Amino acid sequence: MNILLIGNGAREHAIAEALSRSRHKPNLFSFMKSNNPGIAGLSSGIKIGNYHDLEGMGEFAKSSKAEFAFIGPEEPLSNGVADFLEDAGIPCIGPRKSLAALETSKSFTRSLMQKYGIKGNPEFRVFTKKKGIMEFMKGIDMVVVKPDGLTGGKGVKVQGDHFTTKEEAYAYCTEVLKTHPAVIVEEKLDGEEFSLQCLTDGFTVIATPPVQDHKRAFADDQGPNTGGMGSYSCENHLLPFLKKEDVEEGLEITRKVCEALRKEFKTPYRGVMYGGFMVTGKGVRLIEYNARFGDPETMNVLPILKTDFVDICIAIINRKLHEIKVEFDRKATVCKYAVPEGYPNNPRKNEKIDISKVPKNARLYYASVDRRDDGLYTGSSRSIGIVGISSSLEAAEKIAENAVCLIKGPLFHRNDIGTEKLIRKRVEHINRLRK
Ligand code: AMP
Ligand code: GLY
Repeated sequence: MNILLIGNGAREHAIAEALSRSRHKPNLFSFMKSNNPGIAGLSSGIKIGNYHDLEGMGEFAKSSKAEFAFIGPEEPLSNGVADFLEDAGIPCIGPRKSLAALETSKSFTRSLMQKYGIKGNPEFRVFTKKKGIMEFMKGIDMVVVKPDGLTGGKGVKVQGDHFTTKEEAYAYCTEVLKTHPAVIVEEKLDGEEFSLQCLTDGFTVIATPPVQDHKRAFADDQGPNTGGMGSYSCENHLLPFLKKEDVEEGLEITRKVCEALRKEFKTPYRGVMYGGFMVTGKGVRLIEYNARFGDPETMNVLPILKTDFVDICIAIINRKLHEIKVEFDRKATVCKYAVPEGYPNNPRKNEKIDISKVPKNARLYYASVDRRDDGLYTGSSRSIGIVGISSSLEAAEKIAENAVCLIKGPLFHRNDIGTEKLIRKRVEHINRLRK
């Protein structure tokens, strides 16, 4: 069996690893924007290209005789690669362009949920003009401003974090409207975030264990927002601040959104629906959906997946996901990213790093790195994801922390991810809100 994998990050390295473990012993053919040594090492063939090049991806799929394609990142999805490949007879794990609006347009998703009466939205309104923005904001205590469209997680601004007054919020809305078709203004929620990555064939929706990501660059949630500095999951497939009902609520919202998408577009959504949720004092709210696995959250769930991942993909394609029992090891996982000094604003690129001392008890996933004849060099984003897996969070954290410290080079990581101290803070926060 030949499979096309599109993507070049640590997320796709983890996807490649999960596909490779399959009893089907597939040959992977990987289309990457830059050469990820981890993915390349697991592939029978690679092609370097860009994610706008639909023809290039299509030709590579054909020449490698791919039976299906797994699309990792949002960029090729938003360019319509699933439409292009499926129209050429190659089924995809990853939604068609219209359905990928789930991620590419925050206004689409908020409005869809509103239209179908699905709870989980904060108070919000979408604006295409400045008119009415100030009046709406005055009726809300604290606001969040979001550009409509893909922003790489960097366009969202939160009152109290990125600006102080409503006037500043208004100024940012004006700025956003110059470059985006719309701006979303919504109520600022208070709570704890969790990622619930669900697999779907458009009818059946199955949740993977919930994960908590850490967006801020520095320990104790300080510094600028990043793509995600690390994440953890627990052996009981809950999180210390979550109740079982919270996870069920997130899953129920996702099931309803999946059904609404099918009704809206008359075609099923196939792939991953990753809900970024916040558990608040008043229940679970949706922050955003992504039309793909999370990075780093993939590294928490796929390494502990017990069910054959290729079987799952085939079931998604054949609309038979209801026939599959998807199981995960009852293990805790902690992922820590080593990133270049200066990341995210001014990363030290082209610096040599050395991973030879990383012990075998930790898993290593390559992200934005360049392998040259004389060694490994940093790119402009996160470099190496390290994952510890064990029967307890404490043990998993120790494995990850110990290993990430042994990577040499001008890098840094968050030493607090998965630690008891930080988790206690999260639990105390939620207990205060639930009172
Ligand atoms: P997003 O790109 O929508 O995931 O937003 C980026 C980050 O902004 C989220 O991870 C949250 O930390 C924060 N955020 C987004 N929406 C809200 C909201 N309504 N209330 C509070 N924080 C939010
Ligand atoms: N962990 C954040 C993301 O994948 O978008």
